Amino acid sequence: MATRLKQDDPRELALQERIKAGFKLEDETEMTPRYRDVLVNTMHIAADLEVMTLPDYSPAIKNSPNLEAKIAVASACQDELGHAQVMYRLLEDFGYDTHQFLFEREAAEFRTFQLLEFPHRDYIETVVSMCIGDRAGYITTTDLEDNCSFGPYARSLRKVNFEETFHVGHGERWTRFFWNQSPASRQRVQEAFDFYFPLAAAWFGVPDSMKKRTDQLAYKIRGASNDEMRQKWLTQVVPFCEELGIRIPARFDEETGKFRLDYEPPVYLDEEKRVWHFDRRITWEEQFAIWKRGSVFKVPAIRRLQLEVWGKELW
Ligand SMILES: [Fe+2]
Ligand SMILES: [Fe+2]
Repeated sequence: MATRLKQDDPRELALQERIKAGFKLEDETEMTPRYRDVLVNTMHIAADLEVMTLPDYSPAIKNSPNLEAKIAVASACQDELGHAQVMYRLLEDFGYDTHQFLFEREAAEFRTFQLLEFPHRDYIETVVSMCIGDRAGYITTTDLEDNCSFGPYARSLRKVNFEETFHVGHGERWTRFFWNQSPASRQRVQEAFDFYFPLAAAWFGVPDSMKKRTDQLAYKIRGASNDEMRQKWLTQVVPFCEELGIRIPARFDEETGKFRLDYEPPVYLDEEKRVWHFDRRITWEEQFAIWKRGSVFKVPAIRRLQLEVWGKELW
């Protein structure tokens, strides 16, 4: 695999060799500056993503259909904040100040993914997001738990991943329920999949063929590539949808023996109408600009979190 590590730097080479042999780093003194950057960057994004779930999921505490579901969603929100707390705590060892980072940072600077930048409009969107979106997150964090060469981060993810299985399970159960409840709820489930499926598929980033930076893999910060993780996600999501009859733009390809998307990303999303135009491809430059800008909901959602007005309105 191509790597951007400087091969002439003996310290980098030595570290890479030790990691390849299964060595786990326990603190900053064992790192090269480059390793540190890649690790901190990975944890920073992961922590911001945990926080960004809150504006999406917390309205479901109010609109959940029964007490059991209300408790489950409230717990999930608490879990997500706990996940962020674990990661911010680790970042403190690298000079981050959690309070400043969470409450005093410009909202636009939060590093979020498009999947989490559209507030859920009803409980059905929340459970569909848990079913396929939390599953995407779970595949990423499980890979980190299994492979990350920074021991404290890998170990901290055991609890995180244990809790994520409940989120995915909750999403799956309620998706099934609404699919079978009435024609109207079935239609809402389908609409939620129409919008969220491509967003969740994009969670894993650009195809491997486009990826120039392989530092995360070279340093074994994570173990699987973008395409490998996307394939794992499809392996779970496509059969689930096929079993129920939910239509999604993906299928199993007999020829390659792999699951594949029916469209070639990136494609145009009408953010206002929440409609994907699969026949209208955009360039990767345009896609990167869209991801960088964030949806119109991103900044207001984070500002609202930072102002801590949630307490009064949650219940
Ligand atoms: Fe989480
Ligand atoms: Fe979650």
